Amino acid sequence: METVGTVVWALWAMLPAYVPNNAAVLAGGGRPIDGGRTWGDSRLLGDGKTWRGTAAGTLAGAALAVALNALSPSVSAAVGYTLPTFPLLAGVGLAFGAMVGDIGASFLKRRSGRERGAAFPGLDQLDFVVGALVCAFVAAPSWFGETFTLPVLVVVLVATPVLHVVTNAIAYFLGLKNEPW
Ligand code: CTP
Ligand code: MG
Repeated sequence: METVGTVVWALWAMLPAYVPNNAAVLAGGGRPIDGGRTWGDSRLLGDGKTWRGTAAGTLAGAALAVALNALSPSVSAAVGYTLPTFPLLAGVGLAFGAMVGDIGASFLKRRSGRERGAAFPGLDQLDFVVGALVCAFVAAPSWFGETFTLPVLVVVLVATPVLHVVTNAIAYFLGLKNEPW
């Protein structure tokens, strides 16, 4: 089944970008990136974007990429589909990009008058995907081209919002997040 193989490949390729925001939720706190600065009437980014959360998220995603590389031969054999592996720059690019995308979204939320924690449907589900893909493309262009073919990109853009809604709802009900988005 070609389609299943593409979905498995796409989700595996995006795992280092899926983990950072959740790691940031667990590890976040401390000094905000914007240092409390405002632009107009609103914070530049807000207290929800911290140095610690960003560093922890990036590290978690990059570490996951390294772990996935070790797992990929046995998992590939077990599921019967080839899985992508991550050069270090690709893993770091995906993880850091996911954090940057989320920070960019907070910037846009504050500019549009949304308080910390406010929902921005669409942006909330795709900010980190776009950040991760752009950053991975910049950090590891040839790997990006081989890994994210057009069908894979389509799967990523369709499946990620669904996964994001589900995982955030779980985090909310577990009491890890203050809002279910
Ligand atoms: N977090 C962090 N640093 C980041 C991203 C997230 O410390 N770069 C932590 C913060 O404790 C944040 C929590 O993870 O409150 C949830 O993240 P998110 O939903 O992205 O932030 P919000 O608090 O909702 O703020 P915003 O409205 O700016 O998204
Ligand atoms: Mg939020």
